[in-house]
Amino acid sequence: MHLVAAPGRDDLARALGAALGTETTTYERQVFPDGERYVRVGASLTGPAAVLADLRPNDLLVEALLALDATREAGAHEVVLLVPYLSYARQDRAFHPGEAVSARAILGALGTRADQLVTVDLHTETALDHFPGEAINEVPALEIAEALGERGVDLVLAPDKGARGRAAMVAEILGTPHDHLEKTRLSATEVQMAPKDLSVEGATVAIVDDIISTGGTMATATAQLLEAGAERVLVAATHGLFVKDAEKRLEAAGVAEVLVTDTVRTGASVVSCAGALARGLGRVRRGSGPAKAP
Ligand code: R5P
Repeated sequence: MHLVAAPGRDDLARALGAALGTETTTYERQVFPDGERYVRVGASLTGPAAVLADLRPNDLLVEALLALDATREAGAHEVVLLVPYLSYARQDRAFHPGEAVSARAILGALGTRADQLVTVDLHTETALDHFPGEAINEVPALEIAEALGERGVDLVLAPDKGARGRAAMVAEILGTPHDHLEKTRLSATEVQMAPKDLSVEGATVAIVDDIISTGGTMATATAQLLEAGAERVLVAATHGLFVKDAEKRLEAAGVAEVLVTDTVRTGASVVSCAGALARGLGRVRRGSGPAKAP
């Protein structure tokens, strides 16, 4: 298998290429004066190929489609798309009449050019039902646990019940207890945590979630834990979007350290998602993905 990587993803492509033992080619990108994209894969390919591509900002979504097409033009007979952060996946159904099912539209378009898909830590795995081929979601629990283990953690918490599975996986690797907080979302940027009787006095607590977006969830949870007597609160998430003033909010709340993976490249990306992508690729190639909805 050959790895075709997006420009600007050198560190991740190198780590992934090493994990997979594959040759790697970075595709060529050009932007025309009118903003349209151009993609060329310089290598001559035979057999299957994996394409590592980002989907955000939105221009990269178009570029991913072109990269998949170019990879076939370069000779690949089968193409697996590796998307570290699958944007638009949260709108995986119409919540109100007339809404676009964004995950269906985006995954349907990608599925015209990619045979299989691997992504990392989806908010809702059922979004993958909208991809026509086999698709795998892999959680980087091992990598996050290793990073937290180096920092010393007494308790792992999920900010809400829905995130409990991930926190449990991380806690099991660390050998610590885990629990979850009770979050209610008030608006796109504000959340409220119901009081919870947790013994965190003097403890180093890690809150583990899938996404840090506006930082409201992590900031509110951190403030509550420090108020309850925690010594140090670390926040870890797979995807660091850090929209608006998220970093300032986290700092103001008293977060001791923010750890995110490089599914989205940020200054806080201290964990590589290469291992998760490599595991996912192995699973999808072995055909051990989840059964698709009919
Ligand atoms: C929502 O349930 C997700 O798991 C995250 O908790 C959420 O996206 C975080 O958003 P924010 O950082 O804006 O609170």
